[in-house]
Amino acid sequence: ALKRSYKGKLQKQNQRSYSYVQPQASYKVAVLGAAGGIGQPLALLVKMSPLVSALNLYDIANVKGVAADLSHCNTPSQVSDFTGASELANCLRDVNVVVIPAGVPRKPGMTRDDLFNINANIVRTLVEAVADNCPDAFIHIISNPVNSTVPIAAEVLKQKGVYDPKKLFGVTTLDVVRANTFVAQKKNLKLIDVDVPVIGGHAGITILPLLSKTKPSVTFTDTEVEELTVRIQNAGTEVVEAKAGAGSATLSMAYAAARFVESSLRALDGDSDVYECAYIQSDLTELPFFASRIKLGRNGVEAVIGSELQGLTEYEQKALEALKPELKASIEKGVAFVQKQP
Ligand code: NAD
Ligand code: LMR
Repeated sequence: ALKRSYKGKLQKQNQRSYSYVQPQASYKVAVLGAAGGIGQPLALLVKMSPLVSALNLYDIANVKGVAADLSHCNTPSQVSDFTGASELANCLRDVNVVVIPAGVPRKPGMTRDDLFNINANIVRTLVEAVADNCPDAFIHIISNPVNSTVPIAAEVLKQKGVYDPKKLFGVTTLDVVRANTFVAQKKNLKLIDVDVPVIGGHAGITILPLLSKTKPSVTFTDTEVEELTVRIQNAGTEVVEAKAGAGSATLSMAYAAARFVESSLRALDGDSDVYECAYIQSDLTELPFFASRIKLGRNGVEAVIGSELQGLTEYEQKALEALKPELKASIEKGVAFVQKQP
């Protein structure tokens, strides 16, 4: 009798955890840089998705153990590991969503642009392989400086003749996650209800939270606007300093990236109500790349929500004009990097 009741309990436990992730679709996701600080927790969160059937983990080292570990979770997706350039093509074959957190993170005192020299080459090489092996995939770029690495990816894809601007995304979800958290804390709101659009780019003053467009509608004093905007813009640096040389945001980034992956998969799966902010090729402003809210569909960006740039406050309008020169320079630096070294 004891044996039977134990069996029943076990089945219930398994059902409980398993029913949470009953397979609902069969998309393939690849994470490039999967053994890193972001890659590992991101892989774990993607492993929990019921929409994923195959999770391909790639890194230049240490990915075998990560994959072995993760593969023991009783969720539907099959985990595979790929180490080094010779295994990259196999990792990418037939993949629907490629997430790229490969590259070096900041240390205190550095800007994201200080990472350009190393990460530009890493992103270039990885996106070349994406172009060759899964040109139809949604590409999520996390590696910094995002303001430049996304234009780099676009140039590489253009050179390969497979650029689809609707499927290339700089991941800025963490800026939205932070804005939502900080606004909810400051205004004592229920976190789940708060939604702040963040536009521009992903570095310092190029990160522009549109607090006046917060949902639900909230009023802020001028001081609150200034404090919240500066905190959101410097939140990455807040983490870099707290980690004191041991890297930058990894856990909150993995959470944010997993949300963007899940949104992409829902869109691919036909959900017609998927909205996120992301840094994409855009004609909302005179800049060729710009982060804003977008609607995601089966083919990537289905619509750019420009209405949120209407009726900005004077503070936001000024901040928008102020960010343009820096963002423009970062975009041009990325484009030049590929065009000057074809
Ligand atoms: P990390 O050093 O912990 O991990 C990076 C991983 O990339 C390592 O496992 C490394 O082996 C791997 N890697 C290096 N070169 C590679 C290559 N050629 N191919 C495949 N993998 C390679 O760093 P992290 O903390 O995970 O951060 C990664 C990147 O993400 C950094 O550039 C960081 O600035 C950026 N980041 C972006 C955001 C954002 O909001 N977009 C947030 C946080 C961090
Ligand atoms: C972040 O915003 O946390 C990332 O871009 C990492 C960093 O360097 O701040």
